[in-house]
Amino acid sequence: AIDPQFEANREKVGEENGVAVWGPVEPPEKLGIHGTHVAVDFDICLADGACLEDCPVDVFTWVDTPDHPESDIKAEPTHEDQCIDCMLCVDVCPVDAIDVDPG
Ligand code: SF4
Ligand code: F3S
Repeated sequence: AIDPQFEANREKVGEENGVAVWGPVEPPEKLGIHGTHVAVDFDICLADGACLEDCPVDVFTWVDTPDHPESDIKAEPTHEDQCIDCMLCVDVCPVDAIDVDPG
């Protein structure tokens, strides 16, 4: 599962699609955690898609991650600023790849 303490335990190494990326990042195998308020561990996400289908405000968009061992697309929390903290995505992700920090 995603580490809910990732902000303390990882370093912000850059930005992609307007959201922070928390390392370590070594493409294509290691892609880190993407997003901060809504965070997706790209190394755990296997492209189930439930988060995209269920988010009431369309926070997530697919991005291509060719040659990643789990899946070649990932759910980017592109519009994390629109999140209403309903926690649905956290509940439906089958591999607990998502952390939402209401606050
Ligand atoms: Fe969307 Fe709710 Fe998840 Fe926020 S907590 S990203 S609003 S499903
Ligand atoms: Fe990935 Fe979980 Fe969404 S596997 S696509 S973060 S439901």
